[in-house]
Parts: sequence; C-alpha cells; structure tokens
Amino acid sequence: MIFLFHHFTMLSLIVFSFFSTVLSTAIDRRIPIPAGYVAAPYYPAPHGGWTSDWTESYRKASLIVSNLTLAEKTNITAGTGIFMGRCVGNTGSALRAGIPQLCLQDGPLGLRNSDHNTAFPAGITTGATFDKTLMRARGVALGEEFRGKGVNVYLGPSVGALGRKPRGGRNWEGFGSDPVLQAFGGALTVEGVQSVGVIATIKHLIANEQEQFRMYSLVQPGISSNLDDRTLHELYLWPFAEGVRSGVGSVMIAYNAVNGSACSQNSYLINGVLKDELGFQGFVVSDWLAQISGVASALAGLDLSMPGDIHTIPLLGSSYWMYEYSRSILNGSIPVDRLNDAVTRILATWFQMGQDQNYPPPTFDTNTLNAQGPLYPGALFSPQGVVNEFVNVQANHAEVAREIARDAITLLKNVNSTLPLAQAATLKIFGTDAEKNPDGINSCTDQGCNKGTLGMGWGSGSARYPYMDSPIDAFKARGSNYTFFNTDSFPSNSKPSPGDVAVVFISADSGENYITVENNPGDRTSAGLKAWHNGDKLVQDVAAKYSTVVVVVHTVGPIILEPWHDLPSVKAILFAHLPGQEAGSSLTQVLYGDVSPSGHLPYTIPKSEADYPASLSLVGFQPGQPQDTFTEGLYIDYRHFNKAKITPRYAFGHGLSYTTFSFTNATITPVTPLSSYPPARPAKGSTPAYSTAIPPASEAYWPANFPRIWRYLYSWLEKSDADAAAARASSTTKYPYPAGYSNVQRPGPAAGGAQGGNPALFDTVFSISVRVTNTGKRPGKAVVQLYIQFPESVEVDTPVVQLRDFEKTGVLGVGEGTEVRLRVTRKDVSVWDMEKQNWWVPDTEGEYGVWMGEAVDRLEVRCGSRSGGCEEGVEGPI
Ligand SMILES: *[C@@H]1O[C@H](CO)[C@@H](O)[C@H](O)[C@H]1NC(C)=O
Ligand SMILES: *[C@@H]1O[C@H](CO)[C@@H](O)[C@H](O)[C@H]1NC(C)=O
Ligand SMILES: *[C@@H]1O[C@H](CO)[C@@H](O)[C@H](O)[C@H]1NC(C)=O
Ligand SMILES: *[C@@H]1O[C@H](CO)[C@@H](O)[C@H](O)[C@H]1NC(C)=O
Ligand SMILES: *[C@@H]1O[C@H](CO)[C@@H](O)[C@H](O)[C@H]1NC(C)=O
Ligand SMILES: *[C@@H]1O[C@H](CO)[C@@H](O)[C@H](O)[C@H]1NC(C)=O
Ligand SMILES: *[C@@H]1O[C@H](CO)[C@@H](O)[C@H](O)[C@H]1NC(C)=O
Repeated sequence: MIFLFHHFTMLSLIVFSFFSTVLSTAIDRRIPIPAGYVAAPYYPAPHGGWTSDWTESYRKASLIVSNLTLAEKTNITAGTGIFMGRCVGNTGSALRAGIPQLCLQDGPLGLRNSDHNTAFPAGITTGATFDKTLMRARGVALGEEFRGKGVNVYLGPSVGALGRKPRGGRNWEGFGSDPVLQAFGGALTVEGVQSVGVIATIKHLIANEQEQFRMYSLVQPGISSNLDDRTLHELYLWPFAEGVRSGVGSVMIAYNAVNGSACSQNSYLINGVLKDELGFQGFVVSDWLAQISGVASALAGLDLSMPGDIHTIPLLGSSYWMYEYSRSILNGSIPVDRLNDAVTRILATWFQMGQDQNYPPPTFDTNTLNAQGPLYPGALFSPQGVVNEFVNVQANHAEVAREIARDAITLLKNVNSTLPLAQAATLKIFGTDAEKNPDGINSCTDQGCNKGTLGMGWGSGSARYPYMDSPIDAFKARGSNYTFFNTDSFPSNSKPSPGDVAVVFISADSGENYITVENNPGDRTSAGLKAWHNGDKLVQDVAAKYSTVVVVVHTVGPIILEPWHDLPSVKAILFAHLPGQEAGSSLTQVLYGDVSPSGHLPYTIPKSEADYPASLSLVGFQPGQPQDTFTEGLYIDYRHFNKAKITPRYAFGHGLSYTTFSFTNATITPVTPLSSYPPARPAKGSTPAYSTAIPPASEAYWPANFPRIWRYLYSWLEKSDADAAAARASSTTKYPYPAGYSNVQRPGPAAGGAQGGNPALFDTVFSISVRVTNTGKRPGKAVVQLYIQFPESVEVDTPVVQLRDFEKTGVLGVGEGTEVRLRVTRKDVSVWDMEKQNWWVPDTEGEYGVWMGEAVDRLEVRCGSRSGGCEEGVEGPI
C-alpha cells in the first residue's frame, strides 16, 4: 500500500479521471502471458472454521452472522472509502450486533503517520540479527503500540517481496532473500503482534517483487509474475505458510498478477493455495485499490475490500462491493454462503484475538497531526471533531529497537582488528548520512527522500520518527574525539594526521512506487546497486588521504563495494542496515567494542550486478501487461551464486565478530521416520451452517432520513434498485461464471490439513545439537546457521544448500560455551512434486548433509542423516 492522496489536488483528480474514461476500456481483460503459464480456476471459496484452533471463535462469530441483515454483512466486508475515517482503512460497522468499525493501519516497522510511536528497525535489519527472540520481541512491542492507538489490524509483516530482485523497492520491509529467514521473521512477528490481541496481516500474496508497474491502473494492467508451482511453494509461499501456521489473522493480496490473473481475483491462489492448501482461517484483504472487480473477486475468495473504493477513480464514492455486494447477493450472482463465509472469517478473527473484550477505539488520525480536523477528510463537507489524542505508546520499546539495531550491525571486513576503536581515537567523520536531515527528521512525507541519516526506506512501510538518535548524536554523547564534515564531497580542510581514523557514512535507499526519489520510482531504477550521493567517490577520496578508513553503510539491500573495497586504507566495513530511530548508540556500542558485532547478511553482496541472472533485472515498460517471468526458478540470491559457482564479495550469512567461535561436538538424532509422502491429512472439521436463501430485498433498503455523507461508501441500495436486483435473481439472465466454477465445497488437497498445510510437514525428522564456544579474546554472540544438502542420489534439481534453521546464542564470555539445538522438519527435506501436488521426500534413505556454520560459504560442521555422524573442520560444499 498505498496511494498518497494528500498530494492529489482536486484538479489532478479530475484530469486523472478524464484519462480514466478514455483509457479504462478493456484493461480488466486477460492479456496473453508466456506459453506454459496458466491461471487455473479453483472454486468455490473454501468455508473457514474447519481447524480446531479456531472452532470457538467461529462459533461466536456464527451466532452473530446468523442474525445480521444483508446490509450489515456487506458493510463489514469493505472499507467506508479512502480518507473516510481516522485509519488508513476503516470497515463499516454493524452496531446493532455490537460490531464496531475496524481500524486497519500501516505498517511493518511502526505506526505510519502517527505520533508518540516508536520507529523500529526495518524488517531487513531484524532479519540481519538472526535472533528469533528479538524478532518476536519486536512483534510484541509493535503490537502494544498498535493496540495502544486503537488499531485492530496491523498491516504487517511483509514477507513478499522476498528480495528476488536486488533493485526491488520494498525488499527492506521483509527479513531477507531466503524463504526460511523470511519465514521466521514473519511468523515470529505475527506471534508477537497477535500475543497482545492485534490482528497481524501477512503480505503481499504473492510474487510482488517489483514496484514499478505493480498496479492495475487506468492505463495498464499490473505486472504479471509468471512462475511455476514448485518455485511458488519452495520459495515465495514458504513464509506465508509459516505465518498461517502461526495463526495469522489476515493475509493481504498483492497488486500484481500471477500468471496473468490479478492476485485479488486469482481463484487458484486464494481459494486453492491459501485457503484450501494452507488452511488459512482468517480473512483475505485486498491491497489498497488492488481490487478490480466485484463478483469475480468475491468468488475468487477475497473477503475484505480496502479501502473500499473502485481502483480506477477512487474518491468519487464508487465501490465494487458495499452497495454493489448487496446487489450481487440480491440478484443471485454471488451465492449467499460466500458472503456469510467472508463475514464469518472477519468476525471470527476479531474474536480469535479477543477484540470483543475492552478493545480501545482509535485515538489518532493518519490524515493529520492536528488535534481537531474533519472526521471524513475525503468528503467535501465533513463534520469536524477531535481526531488526535496524542496517546504515547512508546513505553520502553526504544530498548528493544536499539538492541535490534545494534545486533543487526554486520561487520563485513575488519583488517588487523582496526575495530573496535579505542575511546581516545581521533575521528574524522564524513558523509551527510551521519547526521539528521537538516530539514527535519520527518520533513518528507512517508520518508520520501534520502537526506541525513537513513533509518528506513520510503512509502507506506515508513513511520514518523519520534526522534532520531543519529550517529553524530551518539559520538557526541560518548565524548568521542571527532571532527564532522557534513558533506558528501571530500572537503579540502580536513587536515589528515597519521593517527586519525576516518569514518565514512554512505547510504542506499528505496521504497514504494507512489513516490519517486532522485529518479528512483520505488525500485532502485536509476541508482542501481550503487551508493547514493556519490558515496563511492567520497570513500575513494577519503581513502586517498587517510590510512585508516571505516565505512558505515545504511542501506536497503546489497550495494556494490568494488570501487573501494580493496583500497589498502579501507580497513573496516559495517552494514548498519536501516536502524530506525536508534541509529546512533547502537552503532557506537559496536564501533567502540562495548559489544561485539553479531549481525549477518540477510542477502548476498555480489562483486557485480552482472553476476545475477538476467531475469532478476527490473522489467521496463511494455505495452499491454508487463510480463515478469521467473525463469531462474529457485535460483535467486545465494542459491544462484552457488549453482553458477560465482564467488560473491560477501556470501549470504556472512558477518564477523570481534571474537571467534568454534562449533564442536555436533550430534544428529533421528526423530520422526520419513516416508516418501506425508501421512494422509486430517479431514476438515465442520464449518458454520447458515441458510443459503437469498435474503429479502428490504434488508438492503436505505433507512429513512439517513444523514448521508457524500462519497462515503454505504451498503444500502435504493428500494427500487434492491427490488430490481431481487427480480433479476429469478430472471433467466445469469451471471457469466468463469470456466471451472462450482459451488460445492471440496474436501481439500492432500498437502493441506491444518493451518500451514499438512501438520506432518512440520514434524521434526532430525534434531541437531552443536556446542558453540567462544575461542577468542572478547565476549560475543554467535549465530549458527543450518543448511540442508539433498542426497547425491536425488535426481530432481535442488540448490547446493538451503538454509533451514538458525539460532543465536546469548553473550558468550571468553572461553565460554553453550549447546545450541536446531531441527530439520519433513518439509525441510522435501521438494514440491508438481504432478502429485504434494511435498515429496525424494530419497527417504538418502544421506542428507546437514551443514552448520557462520555463513553459507563457511560451513565447517557436517552431520549425515543416514550415517548419523557429524564431522568438524571439513571442507564446505561451497
Ligand atoms: C502458473 O503456471 C504454472 C505453469 O503452468 C503453474 O505451475 C502454476 O501453478 C501457476 N500458478 C498459479 C498461481 O496459477
Ligand atoms: C437476533 O436479533 C434479535 C433482534 O435484534 C435479538 O432479539 C436476538 O436476541 C438476536 N439473536 C442472537 C442470537 O443474537
Ligand atoms: C455501516 O457502517 C457505517 C459506519 O460505521 C454506519 O454508519 C452504517 O450505519 C452501517 N450500516 C449498517 C447497515 O449497519
Ligand atoms: C448482479 O449485480 C452485480 C453488481 O452490480 C453485477 O456485477 C452482476 O452482473 C449482476 N448480475 C446479473 C445477473 O445481472
Ligand atoms: C596488518 O598488520 C601487520 C603487522 O602490523 C602488517 O604487516 C600488515 O601489513 C597489516 N595488514 C594490512 C592489510 O594492513
Ligand atoms: C583529540 O585528538 C587530537 C589529536 O590526537 C588531540 O590533539 C586533542 O587533544 C584531542 N582532544 C581531546 C578533547 O581529547
Ligand atoms: C567434545 O568433544 C571432544 C572431542 O572432540 C571431547 O574431548 C569433549 O569431551 C566433548 N565435550 C563435550 C561437552 O561433550
């Protein structure tokens, strides 16, 4: 999400609308996609409520739903319109039944457009910690802030974009370019957020890997991500499956198409993959203005339309649902059970999180920072009232934010122990990224600029900073002996002395497509993988005059380091990722050695952008529907570099410490025995039963003398319209249902059976332990990464190794050791069998290599699944 309408003047809206009428013909028509890719039909939308962990919530919800009128039901399944309430999304209510409007609010790293909130480190930073405890703790803190402001639905975590394209604009909102790292980051965020009663929204389903051309607009259909079923299951769906397994309440559908069919009405994706196979019990919400049809999207499984308006010309008070949904029920086009299921899913989720008990209403307004303002800014004439109560929800969340920012810092290079710095070191600091934006830390809407310390990318995934602890603030607070040159060009007056340590700050930014920053329309289209603001030249110039140079990088993803990486004076390089508000002391604690760095790269840093497969480039303009075909299959990031035997500059998982660790005494223990396919799935439990009769038209009539707000979206129809729709139900004109349409519920596929899929997929098949000992001279935390290598006997093509689990230790003192336990599940040793549509263990007796180490290219311990033994100090597979 989301469009930035504050910037739209009325005039531009009118111009925009004019073009729409000219150009909107035929864009919803399917456009040819490359041969072989098929968007198959999957109907009907599976009813929710069949897993035992949701039974009680569905029971409560069904009691209410059975008693709602048609207009109440269709009011709950859509937003009341863009800018028609305090939150970025506001559903209609059914107050008679005690159902309030629900508030949906961005975004993944903190409350967007709010006040007195924490600006947490971004997802990518959290991923770089490789720390499950911190991932969950961040979720709890986020949940407390959203609840504290009265938000029902947190619009995060983002696990797609997966980071397939290094230039992709929103990779930083997620946790890294590996499905398992992304899955732990996402699922632990879901668990944390929902532990305090806030509904989490895992997004964006699916294959939303490029910003530009993502939306169905007036001029073009959204980009089509064309990918096969195995790639979908083994990469892009994996984190969604784990989020569903954690009980996520909501899933957001992406803007783009998959195989030519818009995700918001892709029945195979929503009905088939998400609701039937993954057993998702919550509700499916559209991304903002991603919905492009009424009946079709309902049949395909969409449950909630946000913000409620039609996608072509929002703001005029038109909707595909609301009153049109009422009409579609009365005229018989959408079966009554589909609406009942959608409403039940929404209300069951509300009960599942306990939001029926003392849940606070919103106390902030995403549209303004003023205390008073229009209640419905999207209306021409709106009643005024109190809109911001400035509730402080920060509590002590700065602590967890700082800990994440600190433990994410990834030390890439540290020649001759240049770091840590001595407290007495004389520092010369260069680069505008070291200090706060001089125009104000929140001077750019949705952080749509790269000026001053880069704490987050831009777009709906941003938050306002309550403060910014900049690196310079922290040097100052520490009493460092430093001189700061607040410039990105090398100053002539820096007076180098031989003992100086030069610290250079550079950055690389990206964000969401509705804002273009320095010619980058979300994606790093023009910046490429280069440091911004001539950062390379700044490092080169400093390195020419100073003999000890430390480079600190705030970045959304990989940048090419080659222009200066090997210069003799570039002694140390740190990636501080996107630290949010806690950019300062988190960094100085590492630089001065209060703690050892313990972050690891959540992606590969190549030597050249040409080292990636060509299919990972951004797709440029194409007439018709832009096609983005995932021909590289599973081979993104390290999976590609390993297969192609290209040595990157720094491998996935790389990260140095000030100390060293040994991994010894590894053991592997078989737990659940393997079979080629998982045992049969449990049957679906029962789901709420309701009358399927079309309700009387009177249930949708406007109440007499209702004070309408212009452009507000209501679910009522004029009496004549409602009656006409009802008459149509018994006429011979039938809705042109898509091929493959049916309204008979199915038992569900073999790969399903519980939230996340067949529960046997998550059985532990091997448990592994390893002793980690601090063998160096300083305390520090170690990360153990576990990768799986498929047996040589397996004929199906698999990546050389794939991350399957990881753990981070607490601080280990010098000489101290601890035992770390990891696990390998059935799913971890399976491949997706496209023919059988199930997870398949290609060789149950084969020797799987279970590798452990500190990076994908530093795997020094190997356990064998068949041999049952483990070896240390062996040569890794890379
Ligand atoms: C896309 O097409 C491929 C190739 O036919 C197929 O394997 C895959 O399941 C399709 N995906 C979706 C979401 O329709
Ligand atoms: C249904 O609504 C009616 C009237 O509003 C009320 O009397 C009745 O108790 C409700 N039933 C349930 C199960 O909530
Ligand atoms: C729909 O929700 C709006 C906003 O809360 C409310 O004003 C309206 O009365 C609701 N309609 C019905 C049918 O309950
Ligand atoms: C019923 O109403 C919906 C919403 O306006 C419309 O899309 C659909 O075509 C109608 N069905 C029939 C059979 O007219
Ligand atoms: C590291 O230190 C040693 C000993 O002081 C020195 O010989 C060597 O050149 C240094 N290496 C680099 C890359 O500076
Ligand atoms: C800072 O370092 C310089 C150069 O070593 C030294 O002359 C100066 O006294 C130091 N200043 C402080 C406040 O320590
Ligand atoms: C670890 O293995 C070594 C031999 O490799 C052995 O000497 C030592 O006792 C073992 N330590 C533990 C804690 O099992």
